[in-house]
Amino acid sequence: MPYQRLPYLYDVLPDAPPRDPWLSTARWRGMENLFRELARRFGYREIRTPILEPAELFTRSIGEATDIVSKEMFLFTDRGGRLNALKPEGTAPVVRACMENGLFGEPALHKLYYIGQNFRYERGQKGRYRQHQQMGVEAFGSTDPALDAEVIALAMTFFTELGIPETTLHINSLGTPAERAEFRQALRDYVKPHLAAMSEEARMRFEVNPLRMLDTKAERDLQMLEGAPTLLDYLGAESRNLFEALQQMLGALGIPFVINTALVRGFDYYTHTVFEIKGSGLGAQDALGGGGRYDGLVQECGGPAMPGLGFGIGTERCLLALESLGIRGPEADEKPVAFVVLAGSTPELNQAAVQLLMKLRRAGIAADRDYQGKNMRRQMKRADDLGAQYLLILGEDELAAGIVQMKNQSSREQKTVAIGEVIEALMSEPRRE
Ligand code: HAM
Repeated sequence: MPYQRLPYLYDVLPDAPPRDPWLSTARWRGMENLFRELARRFGYREIRTPILEPAELFTRSIGEATDIVSKEMFLFTDRGGRLNALKPEGTAPVVRACMENGLFGEPALHKLYYIGQNFRYERGQKGRYRQHQQMGVEAFGSTDPALDAEVIALAMTFFTELGIPETTLHINSLGTPAERAEFRQALRDYVKPHLAAMSEEARMRFEVNPLRMLDTKAERDLQMLEGAPTLLDYLGAESRNLFEALQQMLGALGIPFVINTALVRGFDYYTHTVFEIKGSGLGAQDALGGGGRYDGLVQECGGPAMPGLGFGIGTERCLLALESLGIRGPEADEKPVAFVVLAGSTPELNQAAVQLLMKLRRAGIAADRDYQGKNMRRQMKRADDLGAQYLLILGEDELAAGIVQMKNQSSREQKTVAIGEVIEALMSEPRRE
């Protein structure tokens, strides 16, 4: 192979390889269609932002000490000398786009959704790639916990309608930056005497980003952290009320959740609510989606005081979760309705097929044919492989009589139809679900 994919990337194909059924375009589109439909139902409108942004946007918003900014960004200097980044996530670009396009004026509440590619130079494994797609929402302009509940409910409804039965919603509150600063100090004080016995990662995080010490799977760190203070102990009355109100709303919606005080997420921009949805059967990369509130982010990026919150759901992980459960999930229909089979190879027949196909396609009917001079048996096999519902068989006799043989591939019934009436005949037949 002279050229190969870069490491930890993948191709999505019309016919997925048998050992990786999740790499099927029909499955991707089916999932994206469901997300779009739900976003519409919940009142979110689509935004599309470029894949390239000034690197500084992410350094500033995600935070210099985070893994994403310090180790994982795809950076390059362009010919104009600007330092660019392939976007590692979708929130900061949406904030930038809203500021730049004046969306933070009136009306003050904006609810946006996106489906987009993100790039992180991570160590790849199942469910973790260097390019991944997120289906996400961002809502700006309200601190009402009802909006937090709505955003979480949208994510949970997505998993339910997708058919992923077992997900666990983890929630936590990170409070205000001041509350977090106080907690950070308390956590450092608690950990310091034990630090020598902790992992190298914990020792590094102790210096640069102590809250991330909580996000560990290392047994010895977990043991040391067992009696550590939690952020919830450091929340003031207002933050506590918001968190409790959210829990009540989730209860009222019948959405089960667990409070996970170790959930700190890998971005500096979060305030108050953070959440993550974990799936089963995914191994270490079990977060199907995550998000939270970021009431200071817009201002941090140079905009007005504008609260916001949102989430990103990983398309790859949802597809892998379905696969591990043996569920196909929603699939976009890419199959032709009709396949024209030529019983002969004269130029007149060829031209009649070209015209018939064009008529069908203009009428909105997905239709195809063979262009490689295959015999009838092989044309029919191709029609089967593509999943065509009807064969339209055209030979010299048919052409002379101005008719085609129309064969229903599931009932195997065949009937003769005038060429001029094929569209009506197809339209009046029951369609596949
Ligand atoms: P995140 O938790 O970094 O959040 O990513 C969201 C989801 O994207 C993850 O839960 C996971 O399913 C998927 N994901 C992340 N990295 C990878 C990867 N390398 N390979 C495959 N899937 C991955 C954010 O990015 C925030 N911007 C979410 C958000 C929106 N918060 C507020 N608004």
